Amino acid sequence: MKESVTLIIMGVTGDLAKRKLLPAIYSLVTKKKLKNFAVIGVSRSENSMSSIIGESKKFVKGSNQKVWNKIGKRSEYIKLNFEDSEGYKVFGKGCLSLEKRFRLSGKRIFYLATLPEHFPAIVKNLKEVEMGKNKEDWPKLVFEKPFGYDLSSARKLNKTILSLFKERQIYRIDHYLGKELVANISLLRFTNRIFEPLWCKDHIENVQIILNEELTIGSRGEFYDKYGVLRDMVQSHIFQLLSLIAMESPEKIEGEFVRDKKLEVFKNLNVKDVLLGQYESFKSESGVAANSTTPTFAALKVFVDTPRWKGVPFFLKTGKALNETKAVIYIKFKEVSCLLSKTCPSDTNYLIINLRTNEGVALEVNTKIPGKNEVEPVKLDFRIKNKYGPNTPEAYESLIEDIIAGNQYAFVRNDSIEYCWQALEPWLKKKISIHRYKKGSKGPKELNKWSEKNKIGWRS
Ligand code: BG6
Repeated sequence: MKESVTLIIMGVTGDLAKRKLLPAIYSLVTKKKLKNFAVIGVSRSENSMSSIIGESKKFVKGSNQKVWNKIGKRSEYIKLNFEDSEGYKVFGKGCLSLEKRFRLSGKRIFYLATLPEHFPAIVKNLKEVEMGKNKEDWPKLVFEKPFGYDLSSARKLNKTILSLFKERQIYRIDHYLGKELVANISLLRFTNRIFEPLWCKDHIENVQIILNEELTIGSRGEFYDKYGVLRDMVQSHIFQLLSLIAMESPEKIEGEFVRDKKLEVFKNLNVKDVLLGQYESFKSESGVAANSTTPTFAALKVFVDTPRWKGVPFFLKTGKALNETKAVIYIKFKEVSCLLSKTCPSDTNYLIINLRTNEGVALEVNTKIPGKNEVEPVKLDFRIKNKYGPNTPEAYESLIEDIIAGNQYAFVRNDSIEYCWQALEPWLKKKISIHRYKKGSKGPKELNKWSEKNKIGWRS
């Protein structure tokens, strides 16, 4: 990449910076995709980049010290209280002097990896001290999810940001959109003749999107207790996946063409039923209120009210502290009429998109059992690592590349985010039971009844 950039991570002492952002920068530097750069870490506490980089190293397997040294040399830590407008002047000077030292162009990426409540103050202050002086599409501002807390806060946030910067400068991250297999969904759909004619209510019985995690909320208790599963996973990752499955064909698989088609899906989302759960020891996690009613598990039945999908349920399921970790989309096709005289096929066809661990695509078809006039389902199985090796880029790596290049395709647009909140809004306000479930289980027992009522046999 020839761009010279200053990457400024606001909230650099947080988990995200250490686990994902610095490792992504490491990978880009290793691959020489990032050559002329500086990193500025900003946070409220006393700290140093060398200690933050030290903590980040454990998240990169077999890393090369020389690369870390290079990043270290080009990094600086600046202590800043995000609300303190005077502090931004010092921050601005620090930024300029580092840019001078490395002869950088002053193209800045402000990555807001802080709690969302700091977003408005940061944006206003950056503008005021002219650190965010607009020149073409620079600087760029990156907002970690969740973008807002509900519809009105997301609207307010969009209004504040867009009164100071252009949408072209705004990158609302949903890291799922940087995952290889997620980026592959539209290519798979629109570059293969075999899928699109079948991709509608006449042939698809249901779509299941499952993002299960064995992990608990770990050290994110305070954040998670405030936001919960609907805001953390459903409004963002799951709705984004759903939109890629449900959108109409864009004119081109790029930029605003795709974002426009996704918007049509979000406008037509209709959440019909929701089941919520909370794992048993959640209330004793650090940072969680003793009487918390925050859900850590959700199952949803959603319709997309467009002619293509009329009547086809999208079943969504996600939770923490479950029995397995997986991120999979199952497209279940409808039954064919049975032409075999004895045993009919035991199940219908599935297209399976595996987004995490063993990433790949499988098509399940019925084929003949040798020696019998019967069929059984077999998988035509493509695994990314078998064909392309183990080094597919991590989501954050691809996303940082996109931000530098100014490609907004994999980022969430202002209007989309508001429609996503709108679809979920009634369920955020509604008082519904929160069912307890055991750590390491499949979720609340009540899921069985709920699934029966909604006629969903979850694919495992
Ligand atoms: C994050 C959520 O956005 O995504 C976390 O805040 C969740 O709660 C994580 O664990 C899951 O992402 P991945 O890439 O590990 O599947």
